[in-house]
Parts: sequence; C-alpha cells; structure tokens
Amino acid sequence: MVNTKVRETAFPGPAHGNIEGNADGNADGNADKNVDRDVDGNPADANPADGNLTVGGISARLLAARVGSTPFFAYDRERITRRVADVRAALPRDVELSYAVKANPMPAVLHHMAALVDGFDVASGGELRHALDTQVPPERVSFAGPGKTTAELTQAVAAGVTVELESRNELARVREVAERLGLRARVALRVNPDFTVKGAGMRLGGGAQQFGVDAERVPEVLAELTAAGLDFLGFHVFAGSQNLRADSVCEAQRRTVELALRLADAAPGPLRYLNLGGGFGIPYAPRDRPLDLAEVGENLAELMATRVRPRLPGARVVIELGRYLVGEAGVYVTRVIDRKESRGTTFLVVDGGLHHQLAASGNFGQVIRRNYPLAVADRAAADPGAAPETVTVVGCLCTPLDLLGDRVDLPRAEIGDLIAIFQAGAYGLTASPTAFLGHPAPVEVLV
Ligand SMILES: Cc1ncc(COP(=O)(O)O)c(C=O)c1O
Repeated sequence: MVNTKVRETAFPGPAHGNIEGNADGNADGNADKNVDRDVDGNPADANPADGNLTVGGISARLLAARVGSTPFFAYDRERITRRVADVRAALPRDVELSYAVKANPMPAVLHHMAALVDGFDVASGGELRHALDTQVPPERVSFAGPGKTTAELTQAVAAGVTVELESRNELARVREVAERLGLRARVALRVNPDFTVKGAGMRLGGGAQQFGVDAERVPEVLAELTAAGLDFLGFHVFAGSQNLRADSVCEAQRRTVELALRLADAAPGPLRYLNLGGGFGIPYAPRDRPLDLAEVGENLAELMATRVRPRLPGARVVIELGRYLVGEAGVYVTRVIDRKESRGTTFLVVDGGLHHQLAASGNFGQVIRRNYPLAVADRAAADPGAAPETVTVVGCLCTPLDLLGDRVDLPRAEIGDLIAIFQAGAYGLTASPTAFLGHPAPVEVLV
C-alpha cells in the first residue's frame, strides 16, 4: 500500500477524532485564502494532526475498496459515541439529550444513536417511521415542524409521540385526528420566543416566524388546547442553530427558561416537559472556534438548580442537538477524475459534488462562501515527493456552483486520488439535491 501523506491543516481544534488526517506533507490541506487568518493566526499551524486519513481505523483507500464505489459518505461510530458521552458529561444529569434526526437520518446512524440518547426529534412522517424502527420508545419521540399534514399528524397521534404544535390550525387538526382515533394526543406547544439569539448561524425564533406560536399568544392557545382535551405536556423553544458562542447559547437558555416559567402560569397543570432547543454549532472553517461546552453545561446546571427545579420539579428537561452530535463524525470521499489547467488555475474535477454535499459548495444557507476543510485522503497515483500546489476542487456537475474547494493548497493530486471533505456528518446527503443531473446516489457507511 502506498503510504499516503495527507495534511488537512486548515482546521483548528480536534476536528476529526477517529477521522484522522494527514502526515508530514508540507502542504496546507485546506488553506482557505478567503478567511481572515490575521484574526486567528495561520490555520495551517493550528492543527498538528498528522497521519493517513482513516475512518474508524480503516484507511480511506481500503474503505473506498470496501464500499465499492466513490463518492461515499463515511460516519465514524466511535466518534459519535464519544461526542454523545462528552455532551452528557457536560450537561446536568437531570437534563435529557434528544437527537435531531434531520441532521443525519441514515438508519444505521439512528440505531447507533438510539442506544446513546434519551429521545429523538423528528420533522416528518418519514423521519418518524425511521425513529419508530429503533429502540427509542414513542413517548421519547417529539415531532416538530411547520406544515405537518393530517396524514403525518395521524401517524404521530397513533404512535403516541409528542406532537409539538406549531399553530392553532394544527391544534384543531390534532384534535380531529385524536377524536377520530379515540386517543388522547400528547402535545407540547412550540413557542416562538420574544427574543432572538445572537451568533446563531440560522435563526428559528424571534420576530415573525413560521415556527411555533408567538409567545404573547400562548395563553389563549393554551386555553383552546385545554378545551380540546389534549394531553398538554409542556413547551418547546428552538431559537437558533449553528451557534459557536457559548455566551449566546447560555443567554438563549436563560431567556428560554424565564419565558417558559412565565408561560407556565397559564398552563392547565404543572409542566411535564420543557424542550430548551440546542443550536450547538461546530467549526466549519479555520477561523471558527469550537463551542465551549463546559461553559454551556455550567450555565445550565445553575439554571436547573436555581430556576427550573424549584418551579418544575417533575418536568423532563430536554436539549435537542443534531449537527453537534454527528457533524464532525462524517467525511465525504470523492475521487479525482480529471485534472486540468485553465488560464493559470489548476482544477481537480472529482466524481462527487454539490448534488451530494451541497453545504460544502456554500449553497446551503451560507452568506459568505468558505471552504469546508478538505484533504487529499489517498494519493495512489501521485509522486510522494511532489511539491504541494494551489488547486481549485470542483464537482462533476455542469454548473459553476459546484465548487468544493476554492484555491486550496494541497499535496499534488492526480487522477484516481481520493479527496476527503470533512464535517460531512450532518446536513450532507439528505440536505443535497441528489436528483440534479441524474448522477447515481452515493453510498453511506457507518464504520
Ligand atoms: C426544531 C429543531 N430542532 C433541532 C434542530 C437541529 O439543529 P442542529 O442540527 O443545528 O443541532 C433544528 C434545526 O433546524 C430544528 O429546527
């Protein structure tokens, strides 16, 4: 086997765990020229990790052979386990951890996760079915999201999961469904808070929202809900996602707790459920610093002791996380199928692209395009002594949007070599337009 030298240096912190990058090449795997390095120093020096790329202890090359085709997504089982353990260790013992299935709904990931977390958050009837296939009991599954169809609400009520109501109309439909089925529907009210979260990559609360019932309207909706005979459990607030700032996550949690305690006065009985959301972010670019989990955990412990438990002694308190649990455990591996020069730029054309990993192309909600960390995972064809070079890595789709690495410094890669794109464990395949241009779907493996 070729002893490949890979360097994925454009990444701060312990980004890859079992997904081990690199070696002693002198290239900077993913130096993003568009990132203001002067703020955080040279990202090339920030990650000293060296070694061949492995996922779950298996080299990328062997894995590609085992999978049988490229491109593919590989998720590292052990890394997911460790991340959940880290979160559990940081959070107070009486706070439950729910996994947001939308981040990565691959069935093998779900089954693995089912043994690690307390519950699942689902966002569609399809996710609900997958969640119910696991060992997680229905009463630990919550269903949030606007625009639930009556068919989906019927599935949810019949299964006995918690429906997180997003509107008065949804409430009325759940009531009809419950009457039709002769069941008492378990419901929580998703509240659109009266504050916004600073630092969140994506805001889902505050201001006008399609999500949840505006906080000021909650008392009247609670009255309707009580009259409808629904089994009201409590509140769900999800204010934002992809937040790397611990102070801002802490503030959101504080404000969420205060809001819930205020609204609890209008509830038909003591709250049995309080879902505080999550929004813990992961670093995607050299300038991103990992979230300070300990700070979030300490803040939550204090909140639980001083505010939550005195008022809500029996409530299940839940933190709901997606990308934080799986995002860094995944890698997208794609093969170089062409290498060409055009007016001074060297392009590596790979067999993958935005149809599988849209987020890495910068077209999944990013305001400013930044390169995802990437590396040459295995250089089967290249001369090991070759000098590094600056290249642009593009996918195989016939659109300039299909840009995976803009002017990155990599060890010289040839046709046949493997390119790994990191941080691919969340919002990868299922958040990408797989039908676009009719290429085959990639394989996903949990290793
Ligand atoms: C209600 C809800 N829960 C959980 C999540 C998961 O967010 P993340 O993957 O950033 O943790 C989202 C994301 O949009 C969401 O809308």
